[in-house]
Amino acid sequence: MKKINDLESYWMPFTANRDFKKDPRIVCSAEGMYYKSQEGNDILDATAGLWCVNAGHNRKKINEAITKQLSVLDYAPCFQFGHPKAFELANRISEIFPEGMNHVFFTNSGSEAVDTTLKIALAYHRARGKGTKTRLIGRERGYHGVGFGGISVGGMPRNRQYFGTLLSGVDHLPHTFDHERNAFSRGEPEFGEEFADKLEDIIALHDASTIAAVIVEPMAGSTGVLPPPKGYLKKLRSICTKHDILLIFDEVITGFGRLGTATASDYFGVVPDIISCAKGITNGVIPMGGAVVKDEIYETMLDEADNPIELFHGYTYSGHPIAAAAGLATLEIYKEENLFERASELSPYMEEVAHSLKGENHIIDIRNIGLVASLELMPREGAVGSRGYELMKRMWDKGVMVRFTQDTMAVTPPLIAERKHIDEMFDKTREALKEIN
Ligand SMILES: Cc1ncc(COP(=O)(O)O)c(C=O)c1O
Repeated sequence: MKKINDLESYWMPFTANRDFKKDPRIVCSAEGMYYKSQEGNDILDATAGLWCVNAGHNRKKINEAITKQLSVLDYAPCFQFGHPKAFELANRISEIFPEGMNHVFFTNSGSEAVDTTLKIALAYHRARGKGTKTRLIGRERGYHGVGFGGISVGGMPRNRQYFGTLLSGVDHLPHTFDHERNAFSRGEPEFGEEFADKLEDIIALHDASTIAAVIVEPMAGSTGVLPPPKGYLKKLRSICTKHDILLIFDEVITGFGRLGTATASDYFGVVPDIISCAKGITNGVIPMGGAVVKDEIYETMLDEADNPIELFHGYTYSGHPIAAAAGLATLEIYKEENLFERASELSPYMEEVAHSLKGENHIIDIRNIGLVASLELMPREGAVGSRGYELMKRMWDKGVMVRFTQDTMAVTPPLIAERKHIDEMFDKTREALKEIN
């Protein structure tokens, strides 16, 4: 019999399993802004779990909603049957999402949400007699989860290179990161609007009649926090509109308050045609995601359907009653505690504190937007990512959980964070930076 604490059976995702299992970082409980490690240490959550625990940990309201829902309706099928909470949650989401986006297709994760947006885009064009529009355009350094659709439009080489030929008919915009012109920018960088013009080149190459959709993260998170250059998203929007191409915003991390608004679309004043969301929708407590679409897309799909079932897509757990109950309670907390506004009010403080690390050991860039900040370290020669990895482990030893992509650290605390927590995150980062070579 294996021992209860044998770590080998669990194959951990996106983890250096061999190294982790020699020296594990395991959390056993959580409350508010802190985890408690297996050793009993307080670990400040500077990552909102994985960009999802926006209302902080162990929220009684969510816990109670889940418990109550469990005793009323544990599961209901969602194909040809429904239950009240899924409808209610879709209504609440459409109230806070951009005007005219009133229809939600539920999934269980961000990856599924992304693949759902891509499938809806393809099916929509076909429904309106434009079945040649099948190409999908993503962006370098984009992260759209780990489904085959998401990695095909995504632009993180490691996430693609091991997995064969992926989807065909996919092209990529260039990323918008321009270190030379924009290093140490605060908020949206000044330079780079013209990166959006590359979409015109891609359209000229393939012809708009073959392109279904462009998908981007309004703020690229997983490749190291890349706020969009000023004017860039507006330009993408207008090029897409001009050529009858759908614009999809992947808001899996930006949805539900990360930038101090309900959506990044709100923050940047640019409305896409479809939004993928997940994570903060349930405060990370129960897996859930969604594709939120403009009315015109939903209406076309219903009006033009060639079958009583308008979209041949769905998951056994779409709109799961427990997830829906968690989602409703989460949205209530966001509203009652004005958490999006709170994040917006705290973000200038975090900006100041983050940028005060300029000049510290190894720092080559600092970026921020909303309640997101990132520090980029100079990679070690021939060992990209090793300095970041070491810093992440140092930070854990000092009692702060941070997330690294290679040598870029992302700080994305729960929206309930206070100034003292921001201070603690960056003070300890400063300390740890001094300790590594
Ligand atoms: C922008 C974006 N899209 C999609 C995903 C995938 O979400 P999930 O891990 O829930 O599948 C993520 C996860 O971090 C993300 O950041």
